[in-house]
Amino acid sequence: MTQEQQTFSERLKAANRTTHDSVDNLVMSVEPFKNNENYAKFLQLQSVFHKIVDDIYKDPELNKKIPELEYMARYDRVLKDLAVLKSEPYEFKGNLPHPQGNASIGWLYCAEGSNLGAAFLYKAAEKRLSFDAENGASHLAGHPDGRGKHWREFKVYLDNLGLDAQAEDEAIQGAKDAFAFYKVIVRQIFGLPENYEAPNQGPFHP
Ligand code: HEM
Repeated sequence: MTQEQQTFSERLKAANRTTHDSVDNLVMSVEPFKNNENYAKFLQLQSVFHKIVDDIYKDPELNKKIPELEYMARYDRVLKDLAVLKSEPYEFKGNLPHPQGNASIGWLYCAEGSNLGAAFLYKAAEKRLSFDAENGASHLAGHPDGRGKHWREFKVYLDNLGLDAQAEDEAIQGAKDAFAFYKVIVRQIFGLPENYEAPNQGPFHP
């Protein structure tokens, strides 16, 4: 399929597939569900990322175009999960990104899409550490409508934002920046070398 035939959400997916898988491998390499200590660090990682996107979820203009967007924000739930672990949000050492304009749509795509893979992470938190939606893993729980259905609807809203090709390109760059920054946070919190990439971990089985 040529770029012109792809919808915006298809372009986002295609442009980020490889990076997504490298993020997936990096996160799994630090064994976030090995014990409560690692899980608390994972929650701290999520606290930095979801804090960055919190304002995007709450943006009044975007909420007119994507109904209920503000309720999809997960930063507060990350804080709740951290409290269960008797831990606190992580204070990132360095400059935090402040996504603006079309780039922020890409960050939003990255954050909201992460709730799909979170199905696996939720199962791992539940099976290995006995956390669940009410206790310690609330931010990994699925959307009440179901993860898949919600994601399909969300993508339609993204496709209907009416972005022109240049605006789409800016959003796609924003998504790339979001995935790249997620890796920076993983490495800082889990003490990995700068630019470290993890080997392919194979399919994830909680
Ligand atoms: C840590 C382990 C992770 C695993 C095992 C994982 C797994 C997955 C899987 C299996 C899907 C596809 C689900 C489907 O098509 O039904 C998916 C989608 C997605 N994930 Fe992840 N993921 C992980 C981490 C992340 C992180 C940290 C982010 C963002 C920072 C992220 C962002 C996304 C996005 C944006 C999509 C949607 C792709 C699309 O359809 O356009 N994932 N993930």
